[in-house]
Amino acid sequence: MGIMRTVLLAGSQSPWLRRQATRRRFVRRAVSRFMPGEQLGDALAAAERLRAQGLPAVLTRLGENVASEAEADAVRDHYLGAFDAIAAQSAEAEISVKPTQLGLDLDRERCCARLLALVERAHQRGNFVWIDMEQSGYVDATLELTRRARAVRANVGVCLQAYLRRTPADLQALIPSGAGVRLVKGAYMEPAEVAFPAKADVDRAFLALAETLLDAPARAAGVRAVFGTHDRALSASIRAAAARRGLGPADCEFHMLFGIQAREQERLVAEGARVRVLVSYGDYWFPWYMRRLAERPANVLFVVRSLFRR
Ligand code: FDA
Repeated sequence: MGIMRTVLLAGSQSPWLRRQATRRRFVRRAVSRFMPGEQLGDALAAAERLRAQGLPAVLTRLGENVASEAEADAVRDHYLGAFDAIAAQSAEAEISVKPTQLGLDLDRERCCARLLALVERAHQRGNFVWIDMEQSGYVDATLELTRRARAVRANVGVCLQAYLRRTPADLQALIPSGAGVRLVKGAYMEPAEVAFPAKADVDRAFLALAETLLDAPARAAGVRAVFGTHDRALSASIRAAAARRGLGPADCEFHMLFGIQAREQERLVAEGARVRVLVSYGDYWFPWYMRRLAERPANVLFVVRSLFRR
């Protein structure tokens, strides 16, 4: 792991740095490159603009590790309202949520009850709930939440991280449940015993997992396979792996982040692939933004440049 990435990921956990950064206007300006605004309405307006380009969305309100049951209830209520707003506007947008935003650190049963409420509302509205994957210490609990939600309703999927050494086994165990899987590389700081430190190993692991998702058993189980990456070489390899199995571009679904590789998003759509854009909103953006900087330390230059923009 590069030094810059380590420093940025360590910084993402600092409450002091968060307080400093969120006060600075130039940082807020730099953040706007990756998020259209702090309100649900900003995200819905962005989803509408994306839809005009053939790009449906996934919305996520930034937040993690809430410290009280009341906060977790408020997150649940916010998302219940978001499903209603999406339906009312006939927007093309799913929802993605972090377990620790629903109170996983506080009480697992109550967290699960909140998630089930979201899955039920999504079901009523013909929508879908994605469960984000956070640090490795949360993987078992997150997969358990996914299994419980999936046992009740079909409209649920979970993120799996290719950098974790355990993920091939987790994927094999998850496939028979038919839950959706959004495969990503992984965004947190993890020790080498837990996650591959080298990018080449992560990329190799991603492709192998993608092939498992394209194989007959996953397809027969009804798994909705999503590849969450901006890595063009990797997405080309995934499409080639799909073609070798007689699958077409429309059988591949890619999810990318708002503001990253916008041209590639449009190019994939033109090729016939299914693409969704994950739009983040909310005021708790600091740790999330630091992870975006860590993914591409050159982004730090944008922060510096925004210091000099008026
Ligand atoms: P990689 O990092 O190799 O980047 C490939 C290329 O994409 C770069 O060369 C650059 O051009 C561009 N790029 C990537 N990141 C960029 C950035 N921040 N700014 C500018 N350009 C950038 N992680 C996690 O641990 N849990 C989760 O739940 C999720 N959820 C999630 C959903 C979706 C839809 C996506 C796309 C990603 C996630 N992630 C995630 C984040 C993921 O783990 C990973 O950190 C990023 O997607 C970056 O990895 P790439 O696959 O894009 O490859």
